[in-house]
Amino acid sequence: MTDRSTILREMGLTPIWSLRGAASPSSDVIAEPHRVAPLAIEAPLAPIEPPALPDPNRATLIAAMSWDELIASISHCTACKLSKTRNKTVPGVGDRAPAWMVVGEAPGENEDKQGEPFVGKAGQLLDAMLSAVGKKRTQGAFIANVIKCRPPGNRNPEPDEIAACTPYLKRQIALASPKLLLAAGKFAAQTLLNRDDTVAAMRVASGHFSGIPVVVTYHPAYLLRSPLEKSKAWDDLMKARALAE
Ligand code: URA
Repeated sequence: MTDRSTILREMGLTPIWSLRGAASPSSDVIAEPHRVAPLAIEAPLAPIEPPALPDPNRATLIAAMSWDELIASISHCTACKLSKTRNKTVPGVGDRAPAWMVVGEAPGENEDKQGEPFVGKAGQLLDAMLSAVGKKRTQGAFIANVIKCRPPGNRNPEPDEIAACTPYLKRQIALASPKLLLAAGKFAAQTLLNRDDTVAAMRVASGHFSGIPVVVTYHPAYLLRSPLEKSKAWDDLMKARALAE
């Protein structure tokens, strides 16, 4: 087995771990009684968009899809407003029969350009974390997000977007049937555990999704901003490894 210092070096964390010990116009036009008012031509009304409501028939159809059908369906999805602003859909990447499935939040700018999750700096850290437990994004793990399209400006996903995309995540989990789900960050943890809580509270409690153990950890982007929390992420990885084995 790989020794701890090798693993920590792989994660790029060695120094950290070692520290551990229109307003409407006013009406100023006076009616002229002897003239017939010209027929007003109204500007066409902008179409009113109904909010994306969870459609039970859609969820049922998605729940019966194969991997390839699922990817194709995601690529054409218009179930929420993100379909209007996305560049590429980001269905996920990895082993289709993985031991671990990592669930992140949503694609960012680079992911939206490339169609692959976690391709930036946070992705490099996630790769290092996976490597620390002997996995790669293409081997032993599948990386998905709660939502498959980028929220404009990298804002947080909104509840209707999460609701519209959750059937896809559920089907991915059912098809992949991993031994363990690693929820990276608040949105993944809240979605998988159906709890409205902080990451700090959820990572202690963890839980299950469809009988699969869920380990909650900090989002890699958060770990890049708060490197002292990496020691907790390390603990989460060890807990995940023990649960999956
Ligand atoms: N952050 C995520 O949660 N997912 C990505 O794919 C990229 C960044």
